[in-house]
Amino acid sequence: MKRLRRSAEWRFFGVLRTASPGLAAAWWALVALRGLLPAGFVLAMGWLISAVQHGDGLGLPLVAMGVAFVGMQVVAPAHDAVSGNLGVPASAWLHERLLLACVTPAGLAHLERADLADDLAMAREVDRGMTGPDIPTSMPGIAAGFSSYAAGTANVVLLFGFRWWAPLVLSATWLSTHWFLRSGAIWLQRHDPDVAEQQRKAGYAYRLSVDAPASKEMRLFGLGDFVIGGMRDIRLRLMDLSWEGRRLGRRQAEIAMAIVAVGNALFFWALAASAMHGDLSLGRLTVFAQAAIGAAALAFGENDWWLRNAAQPIPLVLQLAERAAPVGALPSGTRQAAGMPATGITFDNVGFAYPAGGHQVFEGLNLTIPAGRSLAIVGQNGAGKTTLAKLLCRLYDPTEGAVLVDGVDLRELDLAAWRARLAVVFQDFVRYELSLRDNVAPGGASDADVLAALVDARADDLADLGTVLNRGYAGGTDLSGGQWQRVALARALCSVRLGAGVVILDEPTAQLDVRGEAEIFAGLLDATRGCTTILISHRFSTVRRADLICVLEHGQVIELGTHDELIAAGGRYKTMFELQAARFEDADAVEDEVVR
Ligand SMILES: Nc1ncnc2c1ncn2[C@@H]1O[C@H](COP(=O)(O)OP(=O)(O)O)[C@@H](O)[C@H]1O
Ligand SMILES: [Mg+2]
Repeated sequence: MKRLRRSAEWRFFGVLRTASPGLAAAWWALVALRGLLPAGFVLAMGWLISAVQHGDGLGLPLVAMGVAFVGMQVVAPAHDAVSGNLGVPASAWLHERLLLACVTPAGLAHLERADLADDLAMAREVDRGMTGPDIPTSMPGIAAGFSSYAAGTANVVLLFGFRWWAPLVLSATWLSTHWFLRSGAIWLQRHDPDVAEQQRKAGYAYRLSVDAPASKEMRLFGLGDFVIGGMRDIRLRLMDLSWEGRRLGRRQAEIAMAIVAVGNALFFWALAASAMHGDLSLGRLTVFAQAAIGAAALAFGENDWWLRNAAQPIPLVLQLAERAAPVGALPSGTRQAAGMPATGITFDNVGFAYPAGGHQVFEGLNLTIPAGRSLAIVGQNGAGKTTLAKLLCRLYDPTEGAVLVDGVDLRELDLAAWRARLAVVFQDFVRYELSLRDNVAPGGASDADVLAALVDARADDLADLGTVLNRGYAGGTDLSGGQWQRVALARALCSVRLGAGVVILDEPTAQLDVRGEAEIFAGLLDATRGCTTILISHRFSTVRRADLICVLEHGQVIELGTHDELIAAGGRYKTMFELQAARFEDADAVEDEVVR
């Protein structure tokens, strides 16, 4: 019983019940009805035959047969309809569980750890029918299978009227086929790493084909054949795997057939002997013979395949939420964050490595950002600039040391309250396929605030607030990289209007030309006055405006000071600054220079 409760099949039916209790109850009621009707038909036929034999009236037995027959015809399609309707909410419920598993944890680690990411990607295929039919498609097959079992059971029960051992022998005979033919029912092991890998590749190939940015490269580099050929190989590989899984063991099939033959021979021999001795009326003989034939519905059939296939991924989906939660968890503190920071933010001897593994990004990082001032961070690719921003947002916790806000460990602050203090433009900010209004204020804001933020970011002339920022939508429009950066800046500036006091800008102007950048910075400085600002940039024209500049290298701060101080010190900052200045002088088209 305990094993049954843990089985994928049991959980599958649990999901059906949770997703739609009413439909699930109706579904089971129809299973019972579909099981009883064939047995009723068999009984009615026996009744009719004995009525003929004894010269009784045929009306009632004929009506009974008619009712059972019509019932069988009507109930099956009704069951199919209920099945389909039950499959849809079940699928939706599972999908929602997956989304919750991804979105609920406050941190990101669960999305970056390879094993969980694999399982999350695989579980998503549940209702997309990638490895097999989806749940709504499978449900009529499962319904038919369970109805067969119910009908087989009802027929077997009739056999108690003949000999006590007859139902036991016949049910054992037919049920044994499940055991012997079991291996053939495993159509495809979704958990098989080989299958998982092919799945991910197929999903990725599809995304590449529909994604607008990827479509540019697909055409230029002639990648269409590569993707289609790749897809074909993947499908062939999946077919091989499924074929392997479906092939029946020959020996097992032979054993199953022998058992079925022996069991039925025994029963029909006893039935015939009884009839010849005159112990059985014709009516009863008919009923028992029909019932024995009907018992075959207990045998291994398509149902094992439909059900196993639909149920197999359920435990994975149900467990994912539980497995993701602790990995991505960042326990929130309770201290309020209103008005913070009043004095400053300090990285106190911070060490950090990403949970997914890899090297130590920070080791003994010490840095203080005074409240209400601006700090620029420069450093080579991979120096840890973006990581520093992520730690500030508490998307991860340091593995050593602490990030302190006014001397309070970030971990002690109420997480949502702290994040509400932040206005962030990430380097890889999201280009929402939503209206301009929703791109600027995804969490909602008044049109006045949205417009003011757009003006501050010099993005007020891009489109109407209601225009969807993607040409794939009616009336939608596409923006250039630089225009998108203005929208992302407006999003952060809108947060500032809504009360954020810490502004983090990670390469916010990398795609803007120099004139556009100068324009924006004038507005930006006004809009973020009084905020604590962290600016990550490669552009020294931007960086030099900051109150303080820090140079990050090998996970540590190697230089810290004002522009003039750092130039005077003649260190790494000066070298980088002069290199870039020389590039600008060399190139005539200074305005178009884009440094990444
Ligand atoms: N999500 C991640 N998981 C594992 N390693 C990462 C992740 N993001 C960045 N890294 C690694 O951390 C280091 C610092 O990255 P990052 O902070 O993005 O550098 P920067 O912004 O200075 O270019 C790099 O070596 C990078 O490969
Ligand atoms: Mg970066």
